[in-house]
Amino acid sequence: MALSVLVLNGPNLNLLGTREPEVYGGQTLTDIEATCVKRAAALDLSVEFRQSNSEGEMVNWIQQAEGNHAALIVNAGAYTHTSVALLDALLACRTPVIEVHLSNIFQRESFRHESYVSKAARGVICGFGGLSYELALEAAAHLLGTRKQD
Ligand code: DQA
Repeated sequence: MALSVLVLNGPNLNLLGTREPEVYGGQTLTDIEATCVKRAAALDLSVEFRQSNSEGEMVNWIQQAEGNHAALIVNAGAYTHTSVALLDALLACRTPVIEVHLSNIFQRESFRHESYVSKAARGVICGFGGLSYELALEAAAHLLGTRKQD
């Protein structure tokens, strides 16, 4: 059975498609999920996509990830820059974490340059819009050893 990757999306990412398209692009989260499902299949992985506007719900999902998923891809939205609770949950979880962002957070306001998620992540991919998620899946496949050799 394919190893499962849990893709967690934080606040306001349910609004993708209409939310600041000049920053986040025109794809909806459902569009990104559909692309990731295809990319995951090609990498011998499966994906489960979730989105929440609630910090506590995200903490619960991270706590449940270990043992049920082989890797975690996390776009914590604005909680990236504020949430010690998410950081603590990620540090307690022994499942490898890859952080993603649609926008290049380092080109934006200085408050977006700090990421609590990064402190628990194996790596960070940002600035490629929806493609950031596909690149994160590639990284997960490398970490998990499922990536087919070219
Ligand atoms: C984001 C960047 C965050 O700073 C912002 O709060 C978001 C989206 C991104 O994907 O570019 O909600 O995580």
